Amino acid sequence: MATHLRVCDEKNLKDGDIMGFDYEVDADNSTRKANKRLLIAKIGGKIYATDGICTHQYADLSMGILNEDEKTVTCPLHLSAFSLEEGSPLNPPAEEQLKTYEVFVKPEDGGVYVSLPD
Ligand code: FES
Repeated sequence: MATHLRVCDEKNLKDGDIMGFDYEVDADNSTRKANKRLLIAKIGGKIYATDGICTHQYADLSMGILNEDEKTVTCPLHLSAFSLEEGSPLNPPAEEQLKTYEVFVKPEDGGVYVSLPD
């Protein structure tokens, strides 16, 4: 069963927008919480969600560059580009894929939700 995380109002997310969203998850085998970050981007009316931190080193991808034609985000630190659809890195130094997440809009409240697998 997935957790549905409300990340913003759809009306506040325009084409070409890119944002980060912080949330907490239970850390494994403890009562501690771990901080996580998502990247949310909207291109051509479609909303994408991936992990928000680069897989190479610690860089916030919401500070990166969105390429609407190629549907990629480029890391601000060492410039690896990642596909927003598959999460795959398209050039070095990053080699590891970003996780991608299903996104949906709830008509009842106009919210953008990201499905996080449990
Ligand atoms: S931290 Fe993103 S490419 Fe190095």
